[in-house]
Amino acid sequence: MKLTVEAAVKFLQSGFPVAVPTETVYGLAAIATDPEAVARIYEIKNRPADNPLICHFYSIDQVKQYVKSIPENTMKLMLHFWPGPLSFMLDLPEDSPLRFATCGSMQVVARMPDHPMLLSLIKQVNAPLAAPSANTSGTFSPTTADMVERDLGEKIAGIVDGGRAGVGIESTIVDARSNKMVTILRPGSIGEKEMKEILNNVTITDETKELHHQIPGNRHAHYAPKTPMWRMEQIAEILQFENAVVLLSDETLQHITAGQRVLFSVKNIDLISLGSISDLKQMARNFYQNIASVDERKKEKAFIIFPAFKNSSLEIALQNRLLKMVAT
Ligand code: TXA
Ligand code: MG
Repeated sequence: MKLTVEAAVKFLQSGFPVAVPTETVYGLAAIATDPEAVARIYEIKNRPADNPLICHFYSIDQVKQYVKSIPENTMKLMLHFWPGPLSFMLDLPEDSPLRFATCGSMQVVARMPDHPMLLSLIKQVNAPLAAPSANTSGTFSPTTADMVERDLGEKIAGIVDGGRAGVGIESTIVDARSNKMVTILRPGSIGEKEMKEILNNVTITDETKELHHQIPGNRHAHYAPKTPMWRMEQIAEILQFENAVVLLSDETLQHITAGQRVLFSVKNIDLISLGSISDLKQMARNFYQNIASVDERKKEKAFIIFPAFKNSSLEIALQNRLLKMVAT
């Protein structure tokens, strides 16, 4: 069911989670200081109880009311990138009302989303909103209200439809509490290159390349369609199979010969384009809808040929999502 912002405010104030638009992906929101409302998010998503929730704020001043302090580098990045798809790990005071949302942790991940409807919602409820992505745990994030409706429609009070998410993949999460370095805990559209322009003397490292992860969500299975998916290197390898879908970039599609196309169709193998690596913003924006279409085709299996990614922040972020999706 679609909700107006006013109706959503009422549900939130009564303790019922609602789905909300952000610039990255849709979130399933509840008032972060309301333990029962927060518990409902876990129930609806079937989310592991040890996986804390990002909290959404409408201003830096509102964040200040909840955290111990905003360290210097964090502040510099906030001033430059907020509202926007960059989330920060911050320390909470001992008696913080956000510790239900953080699963007891003394750190919160804070974000100011770049979406006018959500900012207005947070302002009206006058409390931070805990909001993980609005999907059943383990599956991919939704980027339209319809995607939320299909997955969680029967379990939630409703959805505020703010249009298709403009970025399309989840926010970057960083720990910028130190004066010397910034650690990327989850890659996103804002990465090392973009942050370096603001913090030129600070080392920026990506911990998602390491085995030990600071953020619980990185340990859980993630983002995957229900159809089992394998990574392949070559088109020719896939032709030994049938009844499948193949995800691939426009660049790879162009190399498929007319003969191969005939074989794909005879073998009941559908090709789904992820878009072109020459337009990464568009690739990210359509990304989860393309992943959703894997299940919609109702084939036995799925294959992906990774686009020839280079090293821009969006490419690192997309590759991170794809690597978690494929069977290993
Ligand atoms: O773009 C986004 O960040 C979206 C939209 C809705 O804002 N939200 C989102 O939330 O992606 P979620 O819950 O799907 O992913 C949040 C990640 C999880 O991996 C979680 O473990 C981690 O952030 N996280 C959240 N709070 C944390 C905390 N206090 N300490 C450590 N990790 C935390
Ligand atoms: Mg999620």
